[in-house]
Amino acid sequence: MSKSLTGLHANGKLYVDKLLETGAAAQRAAATYGKDNVVNGSMGVMRDEEGALICLPTVEALFKSIEMQNLISYSPIAGPQDYQDAAIRHTFGDYQPEGYIKAIATPGGAGAVSATIWNYSDYGDTVLTHDWFWSPYKWMCDEIGRKLDTFSLYTEDKIFNIASFESKVNEILKKQDRIVIILNTPGNNPTGFTLTDAEWDAVLWVVKENAKKDKSITLLIDIAYIDFTHDPVKVRAFMKKFGDLPANILVTLAFSMSKSFTAYGQRTGAVIGLSSSKEVIEEFTHVTQVTGRTRWSNGNTGCMNIMAKIYSDPLLVKALEKERADSMAIIAKRADIFVKEASELELDVLPYCGGFFITLPTDNPGLACEYLQKRNIFLVPLSKGIRIAVCSIPAAQVTGLAEQVVESLATTTRK
Ligand SMILES: Cc1ncc(COP(=O)(O)O)c(C=O)c1O
Repeated sequence: MSKSLTGLHANGKLYVDKLLETGAAAQRAAATYGKDNVVNGSMGVMRDEEGALICLPTVEALFKSIEMQNLISYSPIAGPQDYQDAAIRHTFGDYQPEGYIKAIATPGGAGAVSATIWNYSDYGDTVLTHDWFWSPYKWMCDEIGRKLDTFSLYTEDKIFNIASFESKVNEILKKQDRIVIILNTPGNNPTGFTLTDAEWDAVLWVVKENAKKDKSITLLIDIAYIDFTHDPVKVRAFMKKFGDLPANILVTLAFSMSKSFTAYGQRTGAVIGLSSSKEVIEEFTHVTQVTGRTRWSNGNTGCMNIMAKIYSDPLLVKALEKERADSMAIIAKRADIFVKEASELELDVLPYCGGFFITLPTDNPGLACEYLQKRNIFLVPLSKGIRIAVCSIPAAQVTGLAEQVVESLATTTRK
C-alpha cells in the first residue's frame, strides 16, 4: 500500500465487523436459496415467524402519521424537553430513584455508551466491563486511546462472579483515579445474563467502598434489552438503589429506542445521568452536550417526537407494552425450544434470563460457525463462544438447531 495518509492515531485501523458481516452473508444466502432455506441467527433484530422484520404496530402507525415539520426540523442538542422527559420515564418506569437526573439525546445506545466513555475517562485509562460483552465497547475504547479490561462474568457454577468484579475494580483503581465500569444488564448481549437485586447490592457495595478512597466512579449501565425480559416492570427495581449514592459516583444509563421501539436504523437514544449532586449533573449536561454538538449535532427529530407523543398518551404506552410482550413471548418460546433441546444433547449453554441472544461457550467458534454457514446456518462467532440471535429465527427453524450445533462442534473439534 502507498504511504498512509491518516493521522498517526488512525494508522492501521481495520474495520472488521463479524456481526454485520454475518448478517450480510445471511441475506445474500436468503436471496440465492430462498429465506426458508436459510437460518439467520446473526443480527439483534426481531423477526416474525415468517422471517420478516417486526415493527411494533403502534410505532409503525406513528411513523406513518407524523407531520413533515415534526420530521425534518432541527432539535435542541439535548433533545426536545418532552423527549427527555419521556426517555427518563421509560428508563426508570416505576422505579425512579432520588437524585438529580438529566437525559441528553444520542444516536442510539451506541452514542450514549461512547459519549460516557469519552467524557468520564482519560487518554490511556482502563475501562472495565464483563468478559462476555458487546464487541463495539472495545472499538469505542480503542478509537479514543482507552484500554478495555474485563472481569469474569461467571463463576465456574455460572453465577455472577462478584469476586472477579471486586478484584478488577480494586486493581484498576490502584493505578488510576477514575474508572468507567460498563455493565450490560438486564438481558446481556450476548448471554442473556441479568444481575439479580442481591447481586446489584454486592456490586454497589464494591463501588461504594472504592468511592471512599476518593476515586471518581462512573457506573454505565447499558439497558438496550431491558424491555425484553420476563417482567419488564419489576426488572427495573434495581434502579431505586441508585438514589443517594456519594457525589463521586455518577450513574449513566444508555437508553436506546432501537430494540424497545423497533427503531434500529433511526439512531435514537439518550444518555441519562443520575447523581446525588446537582453540580455533577450540571457538569454532565455540559460535557455531554458538547460531545453531541461536535460529533453528531442533534438527534433524530422525527423519532424523538414519536417517543414524546407515545408518552403524552397513556393508551399508546399501554398498547406498546402489550405489543412488546407479544414479541417477547415469541422470543421466549424459541429460547425454550433451544435450551430444552440443548440440555437433552448436553450442549453447554450460558444461563438465559432474557434479551435477544443465547450463547454457548466453545473453544473453536470460528470453525464451527464456518461449518454451519456451509449448511446455510448463520450464527455469530465470538472470541470464546457462539451467539444465537433467537430474536430472529422462526421457531420452526430453532427446532433441531441445537443438534446442528452439536454436529458442527463435533466435526470441527475432530479436525
Ligand atoms: C449491548 C448493546 N448495547 C447497545 C446497543 C446499541 O444499539 P443502538 O446504538 O442501535 O441503540 C446494542 C445494539 O445492538 C447492544 O447490543
